[in-house]
Amino acid sequence: MGSVKTLGEFIVEKQADFQFSKGELTRLLNDIGIAAKIVNREVNKAGLAGILGETGSINVHGDHVKKLDLFANEQFIAALSVGGECCAMVSEENEEIITIDNAVSKGAKYVVALDPLDGSSNIDVNVSIGTIFSIYRRTSLSGPGTLEDFLQPGTEQVAAGYVIYGSSTMLVYTTGKGVNGFTLDPSIGEFCLSHPNMKIPKQGKIYSINEGNYVHFPEGVKKFIKYCQEEDTATSRPFSSRYIGSAVADFHRNLILGGVFLYPTTSASPKGKLRLIYECNPLAFICEQAGGKASNGSKRILELAPSALHQRSPLFIGSKDMVEKIEELIAKYSLPSKAKA
Ligand code: AHG
Ligand code: MN
Ligand code: MN
Repeated sequence: MGSVKTLGEFIVEKQADFQFSKGELTRLLNDIGIAAKIVNREVNKAGLAGILGETGSINVHGDHVKKLDLFANEQFIAALSVGGECCAMVSEENEEIITIDNAVSKGAKYVVALDPLDGSSNIDVNVSIGTIFSIYRRTSLSGPGTLEDFLQPGTEQVAAGYVIYGSSTMLVYTTGKGVNGFTLDPSIGEFCLSHPNMKIPKQGKIYSINEGNYVHFPEGVKKFIKYCQEEDTATSRPFSSRYIGSAVADFHRNLILGGVFLYPTTSASPKGKLRLIYECNPLAFICEQAGGKASNGSKRILELAPSALHQRSPLFIGSKDMVEKIEELIAKYSLPSKAKA
């Protein structure tokens, strides 16, 4: 058997990449890995809810059974609150920022944005779900973190990653020096390096979109879908359509195989559905680090300036050539100035 490198060993080794690092980021990433393992344990038991007690009910032990997304939220908040490196968090499950101000968080330099459970409609049907995280250096000087600490563009992310609870559980992350993937070996309870230096193919053959919303899509997006469905041997079209409904899982497959994930504006979500700070930005950082591209249709996701915690954005993310094709069609058919011309 070849030698195994655990997530813990890998991040300690990589600490040398950061000249002035004193190990804070290393500890923060380790804390996230630990919370991920606890959430993974509960996700694996989700199908037993009928036996152990439905969510929202009292289980056989007399404990209140929490919804899995709230459980995940609490685990990550707990791990980061006692870890001592994080001074505030933002989560999809909390309207306001969660400030951390305790004995161990005094010198904390980082803030963490979190989608604790992504793809929550897939929990009860045994389909892959995930956790997404994004780490920034605080801009405030001391005390608990502030709202402004989170309103930085995605280019300022120090690290970002996701956990996918799938046919196996993986943690994928970047600190701006490439992307590495770790698979959880349940027999030893460790994430082990399984996908070093991940790169997304420049051109893929998969498009992922909720096509049920077709009638509401901008004209440029409709044209892209038709482009994917046309026959053309030179470009291996038609492409395959694959849509799980968990952004993490759809993104992860496309990262490995090549492809593009689209969540455009719709009439139900006129600004797009996905959240800029804890869904779009972390996936965009990972995608770019793997050689791909992430756009809101006309601009680079990472350069958008957030003005609110739970702000939404359209998202087109994946293989570079495919995202560029979408931008080209949106510019031609959907941007107001071009439409008039
Ligand atoms: P969440 O479960 O965190 O609310 O996110 C769900 C998101 C995303 O994961 C997925 O890509 C998208 O919603 C699916 O939306 P539709 O059901 O509208 O396709
Ligand atoms: Mn989500
Ligand atoms: Mn969620």
